[in-house]
Order: sequence, then structure tokens, then C-alpha cells
Amino acid sequence: MDVFGLVGNPVGHSLSPPMHEAAYDELAIDARYVTFEPAPDELEAAIRGADALGVCGLNVTIPFKQDALEVVAADELARRIGAVNTIDFSGDEPTGHNTDAVGALRALRDHDVTLEGADAVVVGAGGAGRAIAFGLADADASVTIANRTPSKAHALAEEVPGAVGQGLEGLEDLLADADVLVNATSVGMEEDATPVPAEALHGELAVLDAVYRPLETRLLREAASVGATTVDGAWMLLYQGVEALELWTDRDAPVDAMNEALRSRL
Ligand code: ATR
Repeated sequence: MDVFGLVGNPVGHSLSPPMHEAAYDELAIDARYVTFEPAPDELEAAIRGADALGVCGLNVTIPFKQDALEVVAADELARRIGAVNTIDFSGDEPTGHNTDAVGALRALRDHDVTLEGADAVVVGAGGAGRAIAFGLADADASVTIANRTPSKAHALAEEVPGAVGQGLEGLEDLLADADVLVNATSVGMEEDATPVPAEALHGELAVLDAVYRPLETRLLREAASVGATTVDGAWMLLYQGVEALELWTDRDAPVDAMNEALRSRL
């Protein structure tokens, strides 16, 4: 039996096990997906141990995504983002990847959003904002990063090709000409709050919210009410998992089965 898993702390409420195990069932792969919670200073021992035990692949989440970069041979995108969320053990040494960025792009493309040449605004400059901003720039969108703490937006914009950074002021003017808006902050998570004033939203926007609890955040509700295309955070979660599974198995992921397993638990 193949073993895959998730390393993080805490991981008790993770939706990755049912999502991945639905895929194993659908593809008739004899495998399990297990969660692991190493102590903060035991990440390297955990990864070396997993490798020695024949674990096939690991996802990595908070608080280990940045530290994992130092333990495995990370690919170029993961190094630029500064975080590894997927480890593959199939080669001579463990390799590190970041499927969060591509996951966000696939979530948008799945909703018929064109990214090439799009004007995209990413609100938030933390870990999620970093991954999404690099992904959008790689997809040839023009990226503006708007963050509560402007200095963090400026610092991230320096690293992302062609990006511009700013604070949260002036979102209305900025969004008037934008095609894509992404909320990469935690605002809206289990609260009826939004980082973007409703007046700034319009029907030509595609809005992706990285928050998936609740599925319909205030931002998405207000975006839908003006006719914008809305993409909830479960799509991002789904496609980062789809990308990881495809990397590990070299097979097309059964997206519908994974999506159903995920959404039935949200
Ligand atoms: P993650 O890794 O999930 O992105 P993070 O690194 O803690 O989490 O980043 C959280 C992001 O949400 C940051 O961009 C943060 O803005 P600051 O850099 O100014 O802290 C943003 N954020 C959190 N709470 C916010 C709020 N109430 N209003 C606006 N932005 C907020």
C-alpha cells in the first residue's frame, strides 16, 4: 500500500485526507493519506524518516511550509514563493514543490477566467498572497498587490515580475479597470467581514476568495450581487490537491470525485 500524508501543526481538521482518498478510490490506487503533527523542531527528522519508510508523498502546511524549503531540493517556483507545500519522494532525493500558486490559477481557469493579459489585484501579502501573486505573474497577468501594511505589499511587489504594491486605500479606482480580484487575507473567515468595499465591485470582475469557511464569504456574496464571476476558496483547496496528486501519481486526477468529497464536508 502507498502512503501519502500531510505534515503540519495542527492538522486535525484537514480536509485533505477525504479529498485524496476519494481520488485513490476512483483511480483504484491502493493507498492511504495520513496526517502527521511533528514537534516544531522535528520537521527535518520527520521528512527524512518518511523518506526512509517509503512514504510516497507529503503535503506540508502551517507552520512548516517555509522551513521545508531548507530540507528538500525545492523547484524554482517553490524557491521564488519561499514555501514548499508538496514533497515528492519518487526520485533519488525528496523534491519540494508549491501547488498553491498553480491551484489558484486552475481554480480561476476552471471558471473560464482568462489570466493572460488580465489586470489582477491581489489583496494580502502573506503566504497565500505571495503564492497567488507569483502564479498570476507567471500566467502573464499584470499584478497589483494591495495590503493593509503597505510596506509588505511593496516588498512583495519588488520580487514579483511587473507587480506594483500599495495599501488598501483607493481600491475603488484600482478595481474599476481590473479583471481579476483575489482575497488572500484571512478577512471573512468565520466572520461577516470583507477587505474590499462593496462599491468597488462590478460585473466585469472575476473574484476568487482564498477563504473557504464559509464557502460564500461576504466578499463573494457582494460580488455575486453585482454580477461578478465568483470562485470560492474550496476551488483553490481542491486544485492544490489535484496538482499534488497528479505530481505524485503521474495520472489525471479525478477532479469531480475530489471536489465532491471536499464540498460534502464544508
Ligand atoms: P497567510 O499565510 O494565510 O496568507 P498571513 O501570512 O498571516 O497568512 O497573512 C495574512 C494576510 O492577511 C496579510 O496580508 C494581512 O495583512 P498585514 O500584512 O497588514 O498584516 C492580512 N490581514 C489580516 N487581517 C486583516 C484585516 N483585518 N484587514 C486587512 N488585512 C488583513
